Amino acid sequence: VGPKPLSGKRVLVTAGGTVERIDPVRYITNDSSGKMGFAIAEAARDRGAEVTLVCGRTDGEAPNGVHIVKVNSARQMYDAVMASVPNMDFVVKAAAVADYRPMHQEAHKMKKTSEAITLELVRNPDILQAIGDWRAIQPDSGKPFVIGFAAETMDVEKHALDKLNRKKCDLIVANNVAESGAGFGTETNIVSVYGPQGLVEQIPQMPKRAVAERLWDLAEIRMNVTNAQ
Ligand code: C5P
Repeated sequence: VGPKPLSGKRVLVTAGGTVERIDPVRYITNDSSGKMGFAIAEAARDRGAEVTLVCGRTDGEAPNGVHIVKVNSARQMYDAVMASVPNMDFVVKAAAVADYRPMHQEAHKMKKTSEAITLELVRNPDILQAIGDWRAIQPDSGKPFVIGFAAETMDVEKHALDKLNRKKCDLIVANNVAESGAGFGTETNIVSVYGPQGLVEQIPQMPKRAVAERLWDLAEIRMNVTNAQ
């Protein structure tokens, strides 16, 4: 057998949901389990890559044989990711990053006051957008190869392609989280993969690890094509 396809390659994967604190005992998060990101990290590891996995809140065991960086908030994930992006060959952003965080994080547990209260939220940085913007101004703008995710409940293709263009990714993996057998917390996924020219492949329902293997097949082919140009 020859060398593994990703040996010598550095891969960064983000997984799970971010945790946005309201006060010391309360927070905002989402339904992401981290399973898709874990599967992508394991598949890259087994293809010989050196894998860094930046995890938010996840369910279950994180994979062995990868560098794990634990974060809570979107801002912490942003810092961890942006610090290592320049050293990476591939970045896969499978994490569900909270779009908003509480404007104020209370130092002490909030007390009950009036019948209704308002929680003010502010936008979090968009990490995938920041990677795309950073890469666009690099001399070797093909590196790292960037794969984004899009969890949608309607008009999946329209939103995925819009995201790919705006965030300047090489591939977008779209799943319809409203479908059974796809999306958050499930063992399987059903995804459509889009590139700058449109639909690349529709991957039918299969275990997340099998989806991950297919994604690496596609990324390896496209990365080699890019390098050959
Ligand atoms: O815009 P939307 O959140 O649907 O885009 C999803 C993609 O963007 C995912 O790859 C996700 O990890 C990434 N993202 C991010 N930072 C954010 C929001 C989303 O990196 N603040």
